[in-house]
Amino acid sequence: MDIKFHKLSNFDRIKFSDLLADAYSFDKNLVDAEIERWRSDNDNLFYDYVGLETADTCCIITTLNNEIVGFICWDPRNLPEYAIIGDNCIITKHKGKGYGKLQLREAIDRITRSGGKKVFVSTSNANGFVPAQRMYESVGFVRLDNSKLEPWQTAQKQDVYYCMDILS
Ligand SMILES: CC(C)(COP(=O)(O)OP(=O)(O)OC[C@H]1O[C@@H](n2cnc3c(N)ncnc32)[C@H](O)[C@@H]1OP(=O)(O)O)[C@@H](O)C(=O)NCCC(=O)NCCS
Repeated sequence: MDIKFHKLSNFDRIKFSDLLADAYSFDKNLVDAEIERWRSDNDNLFYDYVGLETADTCCIITTLNNEIVGFICWDPRNLPEYAIIGDNCIITKHKGKGYGKLQLREAIDRITRSGGKKVFVSTSNANGFVPAQRMYESVGFVRLDNSKLEPWQTAQKQDVYYCMDILS
């Protein structure tokens, strides 16, 4: 296996919406509900708003034998106090082989190297999100009590929040 992690600026404009639609294809309703937002927001965020220089510090594109198989991004604005892992996925045909976990670990390593003290992430309790929950728990994220979240963590009924403390 030849898994590699790349900067966003190494590629021509990436259609994140295609990767997300593929990764979430197990839930047609979710894709139908989100696809327009992914196209308008995710496909443009780094190129038109954040800028590639910053994107290269908070977004990883993962390839397997030179094919893009996934990505992970995080919000670095509150570093070094904390980073918030955002969208991340592995396309369906390459799921279940450990790549999601490797990609997540790479993101945590980079957050650690930039001085981060904590990492937060949230996902859903809905069917289909067990792999995401397992992935977070298996790299050491601890599930939070939804009644004791930070003010910015606006938990919805089905949200599952996690935190990892980075030891210095
Ligand atoms: C979540 C996701 C990125 C995981 O990527 P992946 O490469 O398939 O996952 P991995 O092979 O690295 O496995 C990660 C963990 O999940 C477990 N897992 C993977 N697929 C699973 C499945 N279908 N059912 C149960 N557990 C599963 C693995 O056993 C592993 O846990 P372990 O280390 O305790 O054994 C991928 O499934 C995905 O893109 N899902 C849709 C998008 C998504 O949910 N993103 C997260 C948003 S919060």
